[in-house]
Amino acid sequence: MGGPLVLVNLKTYGDATGAAGLELCRSLQRADDGRSLTALAVPALDVARYAAALRLPIYAQHVDGAMAGKSTGHTVATAMAAAGAVGTLLNHAERPLAAADLLAAHHAAKGAGLRTVICAADGPKAAKVARLHPDYVAIEPPELIGGEVSVSTAAPEVVRSAVALVAASSPSVAVLCGAGIKDRADVTAARKLGTAGVLVASGVVCAKDPAAALSDLLAGMGR
Ligand code: G3P
Repeated sequence: MGGPLVLVNLKTYGDATGAAGLELCRSLQRADDGRSLTALAVPALDVARYAAALRLPIYAQHVDGAMAGKSTGHTVATAMAAAGAVGTLLNHAERPLAAADLLAAHHAAKGAGLRTVICAADGPKAAKVARLHPDYVAIEPPELIGGEVSVSTAAPEVVRSAVALVAASSPSVAVLCGAGIKDRADVTAARKLGTAGVLVASGVVCAKDPAAALSDLLAGMGR
């Protein structure tokens, strides 16, 4: 089962890619409190550069099910691992996968030794993807993504349901929650609902002070 985690998804925000993104990640690394709770999901083209430059664990935002060899234009999991990624998101609401493609991508990711975080929009979908035995399922109601209202306070029943359904179907799988996570109160609420942590993007990446925002989220993880 995946341990406590604050996974910051840089998405493809303009200031979160390339050289600017590396400086952002360096500031987040300085804000990290050394409890090994923080990881960063970064754009594919930045994985190798960021993994080489940073101590924080680097996740991909997606990998394909295609294997190395006769495959063109795919994000191959073994290549992503060789680039330095330790894990990957899969089936994010902004990069959804059909069931067969998710099965293939998850198989490829695990085969490459990557930790996996499969995203799901609600409890039943979370229980379904948990049967693939990822390290985490991230419950993220799409309508709350990028908004000002946190899933852990606006829709606690969705999180509570996902935690219970995943525990019933695949007890070894940890649950994260994401969408609108902004501060320590949101993180504390998520933990009280039984999650291992949070998946966050704009609350950190688009904050006036991303490092301070991350520090505040980490404070909500408890000791
Ligand atoms: O991957 C996390 C993301 O979907 C949540 O976005 O901006 O609501 O934290 P945000």
